[in-house]
Amino acid sequence: MTEPKLTKVDMEKIVSLCRRRGFIFPSSEIYGGLSSCWDYGPLGVELKRNIKESWWRAMVQERDDMVGLDSSILMHPQVWEASGHLKGFSDPLVECKQCHRRWRSDEMKDSSCPSCGGGLTESRMFNLMFKTFMGPVEEEADIVYLRPETAQGIFVNFENALNTSRKRLPFGIAQIGKAFRNEITTGNFIFRSREFEQMEMEYFVKPGTDGEWFDYWVKERLNWYANLGIKKENLRLHQHAKDELAHYAVKCYDIDYLFPMGWAELEGIANRGNFDLIQHANSSGKNMDYFDEETKEHFSPLIIEPSAGVDRSALAFLCDAYDEEPDKDEIRVVLRLHPSLAPIKAAILPLSRKETLAPLSKQIYADLRQCWMVGYDDAQSIGRRYRRQDEIGTPFCVTIDFQSLEDEQVTIRERDTMRQIRVPIKELQSTLASKLSGEDLFILPLGGKIWKEG
Ligand code: GAP
Repeated sequence: MTEPKLTKVDMEKIVSLCRRRGFIFPSSEIYGGLSSCWDYGPLGVELKRNIKESWWRAMVQERDDMVGLDSSILMHPQVWEASGHLKGFSDPLVECKQCHRRWRSDEMKDSSCPSCGGGLTESRMFNLMFKTFMGPVEEEADIVYLRPETAQGIFVNFENALNTSRKRLPFGIAQIGKAFRNEITTGNFIFRSREFEQMEMEYFVKPGTDGEWFDYWVKERLNWYANLGIKKENLRLHQHAKDELAHYAVKCYDIDYLFPMGWAELEGIANRGNFDLIQHANSSGKNMDYFDEETKEHFSPLIIEPSAGVDRSALAFLCDAYDEEPDKDEIRVVLRLHPSLAPIKAAILPLSRKETLAPLSKQIYADLRQCWMVGYDDAQSIGRRYRRQDEIGTPFCVTIDFQSLEDEQVTIRERDTMRQIRVPIKELQSTLASKLSGEDLFILPLGGKIWKEG
C-alpha cells in the first residue's frame, strides 16, 4: 500500500476547495467569468461576515474611543482632487507592442514582455480610479469616481462624527466597505482584484503622540491576526522605504503574510500626518481643526490608519487554516479555522436516516439555529460526513444515535483533535458555547508578543 502524499498548501488547492465547497466562485461564471472579479458563495459569505464581525468587535464594540461609519461609495469629485488621488494614485504602465498585454513597469524584471517576449512601449502613469457618470448625460462635468479607499469617507465626516459623538482626542472612526481599483495586474485569486472590501480605521491623535500610537496600532493589529489563529511565523512587519511611501504617508508598516506565492502585504498601517484634514479644509473652505478644551488650542489632529482588506484576510485565514493529514489510505483535509471565523459552527449528524432519529435531530438543529449558523447532514456514512465538515472548517459535529433516544445524550466530536465527548442534550447549547469561546478546546495561538521587524 502506498502512503498518501501530503503536500503543502498551494493556491490551486485553495481555489479548488473554495470553488468545490461554495466559498468563492468566479464572477458571472455562466458567461465565462469576469477577470479578477469574484462572488462569495454560501460558505464564503459567512466567512467574510465573521471576519468583518471580529474586526468590528475588536475595533469598535469593545472600545470606548471609537465610533463607526458607513459612507457612500460615490463621493463629490473634489474629494479625490483634494486627497491627491486624481494626481497621485497611479501606477507606471507599459504595453507589449506585440500582444498588447499591459504590465506594471515597476514590477518588471527585464525590458521585454513576460508573456511573449515582445518589445514594450515607454512607461506612462495610469490612474487606478474607476470613472463613471452621475445622471443621464455622459459629460466631463458629471464624472464621479468609485472610491479607491474607504478612508476619504471618514476624513470628510471627521467634524460630523466628532460633534455628534462628543468624543475627545484620541479617538477613531472605523468603516468597512467596498473599494475599487482599476489595477493593471491582478491575480493570485482574491489577493488582488478590482473590486474588494476594506476595513479601515482612522485614529485621530494630538501632535507629538503619533509615534506611540503608531506602535500601539501595529501591535494591536498583529495580535488581532494571531488571536484569530494565524501562525506567528507566517506574519512579519515590513517598513516602507521613503520611495515606497504612498503620497499621503509620513511612515508606513505593512503586516505581511506568507501567502503560497510568497510574502505579501496583508494590511498597511500608516501615519498619514495631517495631510488629509488639511487638504480637505483647504479645498472645501470648511474649518476641520480640533479645539482642545484643556489647553484652549486649535490644531489639526494627526492620523494613524490601520487599513486591512477583507478579501486578503479571508485568503490568509484560508491558507493558514488549510491542513492535510494521513487518514488510513486517504488524506483528511482540515480547515483549522478559528471557531469564531468558521462559517458553520456545528453540524448535526443523525447516525442513520431512519425515521426514528429524524424528529430529535431536526429539533436539535432548529434549537441550535437560534444561536449560530449550523448545518444538517444525513447523507452517506458518518465518516464521510465528518470529512465533509472538516474540509469546510466546522469545529464541531453533533452525532445523534439510537442511544440518544433513550439516554437523552449526544456525541460532540471536535474537528482538530477528533476527540469525542458525550453530553446531555439539555447541556448541548451551553457546552458548545463554551467550546466556541475557546474554553476546553484545542490549542489556539494566543497573540504572541515577540514580533520582529524584517
Ligand atoms: N487607505 C489606505 C489604503 O487603502 P492600501 O495599502 O492601498 O492602503 C489597504 O490598501 C489594504 O486594502 C491592503 O493592505 C489590502 O489588504 C487591501 N487591498 C488594496 N488593494 C487591493 C486589491 N486590489 N485587491 C484586494 N485587496 C486590496
